[in-house]
Amino acid sequence: MKRDKSTDARAIAHHYDVSNDFYALFLDPLMVYTCAYYRDPDGKIEQAQQDKLDHVCRKLDLRPGETLLDIGCGWGGLSMWAARHYGVRAQGVTLSRAQADYAAERIKREGLERTCRVDYMDYRDLPAEVVYDKIAAVGVIEHVGIPNYPAFFGGVRARLKDGGLYLNHGIVHEFGWKRSSQFEFLLRHVFPNGELASLSGTLTEMERAGWEIMDVEGLRLHYARTCRQWAERLCARADEARALAGEHTYRTWRLYLTCSAVAFEGSSLGLYQVLMRKHRDPKVGDVPRTREPLYDRGPA
Ligand SMILES: C[S@@+](CC[C@H](N)C(=O)[O-])C[C@H]1O[C@@H](n2cnc3c(N)ncnc32)[C@H](O)[C@@H]1O
Repeated sequence: MKRDKSTDARAIAHHYDVSNDFYALFLDPLMVYTCAYYRDPDGKIEQAQQDKLDHVCRKLDLRPGETLLDIGCGWGGLSMWAARHYGVRAQGVTLSRAQADYAAERIKREGLERTCRVDYMDYRDLPAEVVYDKIAAVGVIEHVGIPNYPAFFGGVRARLKDGGLYLNHGIVHEFGWKRSSQFEFLLRHVFPNGELASLSGTLTEMERAGWEIMDVEGLRLHYARTCRQWAERLCARADEARALAGEHTYRTWRLYLTCSAVAFEGSSLGLYQVLMRKHRDPKVGDVPRTREPLYDRGPA
């Protein structure tokens, strides 16, 4: 698979620049386009996406005044949430022009310009000399390409301060996975630059890049419910979806969301959040010793 920047930019535009209004039909109001976190297994997506953003921010142990880089920030949901509720200075980057325009407009509307920005940029073009306290990459590894994992995980590490935390949230496929017609459909019509690895293969590349792995959490069933809810919400707005994006795109997205729900339910796909720490000196910085701060629902 060809993997230069312009091919990736075209692949990202194919998927994410369909129409912001089309995505708004089935995403939650914060426009989060990754696995939600259902504290209530029968819960609503709106609450579950807010809880996911909190889960990510708490894992990263975000503190007021810290800098956060949100790689592959989508429509800016995490960046804005972290700036508003955790007092960080957040910078998101996305390779979708439509997402970046939407996020810039929303940041302005919500009065967050001083603490939050979103740039239309390939993460590979981030200046090497700027380093952050914390980094998140939520739903991006699926677009990176396995041969690029060493450069990706190494590049993230180079942009993090010593002692800093990095959370990677992404889809994996089951061990021993083989190409299928479903995958060919996804590659041809939905995610032209998509590529998935196994969990163990991904962890190995993280370790090779020098990361200390702090925590690994599987959220497969959360993604099954998220995809089901997206598919149902899209079907419920079918006429508007057709009007915004056309019959072909509506049907393609409905099929892909439904197939994805089935794949997560059947465990051929998984979703893992991996929390990592950068250190040259293991005594640098302090991190929570237990998972208790994640579940303490007092003020963040
Ligand atoms: C599945 S979306 C996730 C968006 C967001 N993190 C969320 O949770 O809603 C994947 C994102 O990765 C971004 N992306 C993919 N490749 C990228 C690249 N090379 N540089 C910057 N962003 C990239 C896409 O533009 C998109 O915003």
